[in-house]
Amino acid sequence: MRQIAPSILSANYIKISEIIKILEKKGVDLIHVDAIDGVFAPNIGFSPKFVKEIASITDIPLDIHLMFCNPLKFVTLYIDAGARMISAHIESLDLASAEKFLEIVEERGILKGFAIKPSTEIPEWLNNLLEKVDYIVPMSVEPGFSGQKFIPQILSRIENFNILRKKRGYHYLIEADGGVNKENIKSLIEKGVDIFVIGAGIFGSNDIEESLEYFKKIVKEDGDKFG
Ligand code: DX5
Ligand code: ZN
Repeated sequence: MRQIAPSILSANYIKISEIIKILEKKGVDLIHVDAIDGVFAPNIGFSPKFVKEIASITDIPLDIHLMFCNPLKFVTLYIDAGARMISAHIESLDLASAEKFLEIVEERGILKGFAIKPSTEIPEWLNNLLEKVDYIVPMSVEPGFSGQKFIPQILSRIENFNILRKKRGYHYLIEADGGVNKENIKSLIEKGVDIFVIGAGIFGSNDIEESLEYFKKIVKEDGDKFG
């Protein structure tokens, strides 16, 4: 079942509790929360305290995207805060630390993912861990900001992850993050995306509810026509 995950980096933070009520009313599947350390990517994202506060007002599962140079140092803080899914960037990991990351998250019983910058070549070690991972985030913008332009070359990377999981029987989901909009959503469905992170496409529109309805319809009802 394909899922919608609004990315609140581009939401109005002052109105966050009202916004979460709208997300609940519209039945979104996940809330995507960007945690950024200012060094891994040139912006600052949400703190564990903020995540905890969001988790205290909603039952919508929180998908935490760690854009940190040292994800192992912070992963537990975000799990304690209420993460239900958490991804770390492969650029901040090697085989040993990536295995450790999977072990820590697995032990806490939530979903574990790896995110990949568009400019990164996939390292050999990642192939050895794909059978253990719950989701993969082949990003379609350089990490850090909402509202950037989708990089179309990432479609073939997404397609390759889809082909690979079918061929090898892996269970990971594919999450699209970065520049997802009304123009590219059909090709993303077609290439095998399961989770659609959408920031500016929802919070940058004049009518948040209408945008949510649009994406929900295309992903959930019409999805099988393209996928
Ligand atoms: C970028 C973040 C994204 C971003 C998505 O670093 O990972 O989650 O908020 O926003 P849009 O959909 O506007 O690219
Ligand atoms: Zn993100």
